[in-house]
Formats: sequence, structure tokens, C-alpha cells
Amino acid sequence: MELLIKGGRVIDPKSETNENLDILIKDNNIIAIGKDISVENRKVIDATGMVVAPGFIDIHVHLREPGFEHKETIETGTKSAAAGGFTTVACMPNTNPTIHSKKTVELIKNRAKEVGKSNVLVIGSITKDLHGMELSEIENMHEAGIVAISDDGKTPMKEEIMIQAFKKARKFNIPLISHCEDHNLSKDGSINEGKASERTKIKGIPAAAEYLIVKRDIELSEKLKTKLHIAHVSTKEAVELIRGAKHRGVDVTSEAAPHHFILTDDIVTHHNTYAKVNPPIRSQEDVDAVVEGLRDGTIDIIATDHAPHDEDSKKVDFNKAAFGITGLETAFSLSYTHLVLKKRLPLIKLIEMLSTRPAEIIGIDKGILKPGKEADITIVDLNKEYTIDSNKFYSKGKNTPFNGDKVKGKVAYTILGGKIVYERGNIICS
Ligand code: DOR
Repeated sequence: MELLIKGGRVIDPKSETNENLDILIKDNNIIAIGKDISVENRKVIDATGMVVAPGFIDIHVHLREPGFEHKETIETGTKSAAAGGFTTVACMPNTNPTIHSKKTVELIKNRAKEVGKSNVLVIGSITKDLHGMELSEIENMHEAGIVAISDDGKTPMKEEIMIQAFKKARKFNIPLISHCEDHNLSKDGSINEGKASERTKIKGIPAAAEYLIVKRDIELSEKLKTKLHIAHVSTKEAVELIRGAKHRGVDVTSEAAPHHFILTDDIVTHHNTYAKVNPPIRSQEDVDAVVEGLRDGTIDIIATDHAPHDEDSKKVDFNKAAFGITGLETAFSLSYTHLVLKKRLPLIKLIEMLSTRPAEIIGIDKGILKPGKEADITIVDLNKEYTIDSNKFYSKGKNTPFNGDKVKGKVAYTILGGKIVYERGNIICS
């Protein structure tokens, strides 16, 4: 039966559409977008008063399978994605085994086909076991369909390895996603270096750890003419470097996570291990710079760095706690509340950063509402106010410093390839 989304405000950044329209879906695809499409013999979603957007795409997610299924699985992670309005996620390779071979790429893709509630793209590692010493099977992984390479969670420190990696990325025309952390400087640190590390006496991670690698990788991208994507930008210095590189025409893009454009290191205490993340939550000056980067296009997209952890990894001494914040189910509400309602970004720009641009960066034909395209669609209720309750997450990871925050704007429906996968709090089983 055909599915009709009726009466919503359709916002499609690619075609600059922003008006009340109906969308008709048949099988997997959008077949018409227009005014007053008849409801007869069709299943209807009444989207009156809501916004209809291209399905959100998060290119930075840790699904933890294989190897860390006690933290998350492809099934729970993609349910979490669907509940957050994400129809496509790209998973990072710090699994066990590491995603460094064709076999593991295929395993994830097959599992996602069986149980996935969102599309799953796979990011292969740059180096074997993320050790930074030897290149992964990038060629074979590319044959199996990886969309990018990254050692996220770590930075390969050897420049000669990075040169080889950039050349591989160029050969396959895929981005190299850089986790920018000079391990010589960040060593044993758990928190932003500055007022927070002085106050808590917890060892800090300086802004320079990010700056030095952003600088190195921009130079390599520029020299080797390769697509570089900077993950989770957290510092003013990194924003400035990326801005300068873009002005020079370097093929660099970047992302920011909600915790880096909302929170400051004032919230970090010995007990608040849910606020322990890498890169760390920084100062107000850094937050302001990241917001400015989002506003002026230096930072292209919002990505969650969804990093679910089990309680045993978080309910320990701050220095021993795992880095990471669960992000998929709060990303839209937090971004809408803190960026759009505070007049830092227009809504159409937020949707572009959650859908159209990530699709372009990762090179997929998604993030657009148009007849003939696959019907990956997110419907949001901008008037819905609620309190974040991590117990209600579909993710196994409850590790969010935003628990208990009041936010506005909630995903109401997520439609994946023409099928409703999430409807007002519920995952829909087909
Ligand atoms: O906080 C983080 N957690 N940052 C990363 O880069 C990796 C991630 C994880 O895998 O838990």
C-alpha cells in the first residue's frame, strides 16, 4: 500500500524547498511531492504542524559489534539511530576484531541487513588493530564497500604511514577521517587542560594535542590532494586552522558533536564520568568558536560520535573511566534547542548539517527529498518539549551528561526505504 505524508512542512536543503507539501511513497521510493495529493486508498501519516526532512545521516557512530556487544550491537545501535531520526549511520572500526579486513566489513554489512533499523555504512581502519604501524587491507575493504578510512579513537602518529593512507584514500576517492590527537601530548589525560584540570587535579589534554594533528593532516591533504574529514572538532585553534585551509581551497571538511558545541568543562567533576569524552569537553571560548564554525560553514556537519559504554566502564575512578557519550537519540533535540531556538542556525541549515552534507561528504546518493529517490525520511515535532531520560534509550549505552535536560523538538517518525521504522517512541517491527 502506498504511504502518504500529509500536510507537513517539507524542508529539503538541496532543492531549497521549505513549504507545506505532501509526499507520496510507493514501495521503497518517493514517487510524488506536491500539494493536495489524494488520501484515497493510502496509508496516511498526518504531519500537520510537523517538519518533514530527508532522513538524518550520522557518519560517526560506534556500533561496537563485533567484540563489544555488552556495550551495543548493530541491532540496538540502529534502533537507537531510528529513534534519533537517523536513517543512515557509518560505523567506526574500533571493534574486536578491528574493521581492518574485508571479512569484518562483510560481517557487519550482513548483520546490518538482517537486524538493522537503519542503513549501516562501514568505515575501515587506516592501520591494523589501530596500532598505527601497518596499513590495513584498504584495497580489499574498498571492494567490500567501505565509505571512508579512519583510526578513530586513535591517531596514527607516524607520518610515513599517514602518507600511504592518504594515497590509498585518494586512489579510491574516499575521505580519510582524522581523529586529531597527538598522543605524546594527551598521554594519560582525561579532561580539558586548563581551569578544569587545575580545579579537579585530573590530568589534562591540551588543545595543542588537537591543533598539531589537524595542522599535520591539513598539510598532508593539501600536498597529496586527498579528501580529509576532521572528526569531532573541539578547540578554537582547530576551527581556525580548518577555516584557513578552506580559504586556501584544501579539500577538507569537518564535524562537531553536540557535547562540544553545548557543554563546557565547568560540568566535569570526579563523579561525572558521563562527561568524560575524547576529545574532552573544552572551555567556553572553544564552545563559542565551534558554534561560530558551524555558523560560517567551517564546520560542515553535526555528527554524534555515539560512543555507548556499559556501566562498569563508567562507574569507576575518573582516570580509569572509558571515554565516550551516547549521542544518537539526543542529537536532534539538543541541536534544535541549542542552535536553532537560540538563533545560532536556521532550521534548514541544521537539517542540511544532519543530512544533505553528511551524504555529500561520505559520497552517497541520499540526504535529498525528490521523486525517484529512496524514501528515507525523518518527521520531527518541533513543539514537543520533553526531558531527556536515558532509561528510555534504545541504545544499551545510558552514558549521557544530558540526562534530565529539558529540550524541545522531537523525532516523531523515521521512515527507512519507504517503511516506518520508528513512530512516537516505538520501534516498529516489520
Ligand atoms: O570519547 C570517545 N569515545 N572518543 C573516541 O574517539 C572514541 C570513542 C569510543 O570508541 O568510545
